[in-house]
Amino acid sequence: MKTFKAGMIGLGTVGVGVYKLLQSFNKIKIENIAVKNINKKRDIENFNTNLLTDNPFDIVNNPDIDIVIEVAGGISPAFEILSAAIKNKKHIVTANKELLAKRGSELFGLAKENNVTILYEAAVAGGIPIIMPIKTTLCANKINKIAAILNGTTNYILTKMAEKELSYETALKQAQDLGYAETDPTGDVEGFDAAYKIAILSTISFNKKIDINKIYTEGITNIKPQDIKAAKELGYTIKLIAMGQLLDDGRVDVRVHPMLVAKKHLLAKVKNATNSIMISGYPVGDLVLTGAGAGAEPTSSSVVGDLLTLTSELEISDYPLPLTKCKHDENAVQIDIGDTYNEYYISIQASNNPGVIGIIGTICGKNNINISTIMQKGIDEDNTAEIVVITEKSKESDVKNALENLLKSDSINKINSLLRVMN
Ligand code: HSE
Repeated sequence: MKTFKAGMIGLGTVGVGVYKLLQSFNKIKIENIAVKNINKKRDIENFNTNLLTDNPFDIVNNPDIDIVIEVAGGISPAFEILSAAIKNKKHIVTANKELLAKRGSELFGLAKENNVTILYEAAVAGGIPIIMPIKTTLCANKINKIAAILNGTTNYILTKMAEKELSYETALKQAQDLGYAETDPTGDVEGFDAAYKIAILSTISFNKKIDINKIYTEGITNIKPQDIKAAKELGYTIKLIAMGQLLDDGRVDVRVHPMLVAKKHLLAKVKNATNSIMISGYPVGDLVLTGAGAGAEPTSSSVVGDLLTLTSELEISDYPLPLTKCKHDENAVQIDIGDTYNEYYISIQASNNPGVIGIIGTICGKNNINISTIMQKGIDEDNTAEIVVITEKSKESDVKNALENLLKSDSINKINSLLRVMN
């Protein structure tokens, strides 16, 4: 059995998990690990600190190293490090979703020129196997839809808001105390992390390059306890959903936003920090994969799985895993959120005047919006009422027009919330 030499960039939570798991596999030997701070204490028993370097280029320029494992994250210097590694003919295993979503196209182009492989199972949904299945086992399918919970932090926050009736701020604080959310939670709560992941999944599912800047991305920071409560009463739960759809005309609809998900839907049952991916294709039908989307151990399962798959191939071939190579040269035509059709939840704050429900109905009707449910529960102390509307499938731009027109009415004080609905 040949032993392959690997260098690792990063030794944070995931890096430590990967390092520990690799101790059980003789086939891969870690030669060096590049870290920012060599003196930092590492949670690894009998750790040989001589492995550490603070110069990642020691690794990528070392001719003995076959594979570079990147678990540091971020765009720069990760892009420069991996580009140099690829030019030096090293295969790459990475967990870096942001890098692949933003600059994957350049890296995959370089990898093709240099006949090396980039594997990235850990970049999407931690321990859930999804990249390799889409590229290999499912390659006979035309995949046309992905709907997924791809961010554990936001799913944890929304679960606690629903189950414990916490405010967004309190639930976020709990997520931070438990180590799910970072001190600056922006990447998770604003939906960017989920957008990187759905960009990667949509690219490989639809075989078209997705532009991350054209993904409509809305996070969970505006979700109010009253939305969670109204959703519950109407038979829904609120989730941050990442969605990718291949339309009949070849255009794609890729977006991330919170949705009211019907309680009977499988994604509604996914709680706390768990991730879940629902993928639909022909001829396979619908598949759902659920599991841990983050954490040292689940993520190391994906990283080390890639390493063992890659090295098994390298033992017998100089052109490993051809099915995993990037096959898409075409840029996707991504539709604008205004052109999408959805069912909507609209929470309206109105004055307690006669005819308000009529005004809402008339304005919706004039904008081609068919109301399926309308709910008002009493009057608040300030003589206003919260009126909740659920619509049938309507065009987003029509809904936005209707909301603008509603606000022109003296009886409508404000639109509290506009959320999309998944049944
Ligand atoms: N921060 C992510 C999450 C995990 O909360 O799911 C890493 O992408």
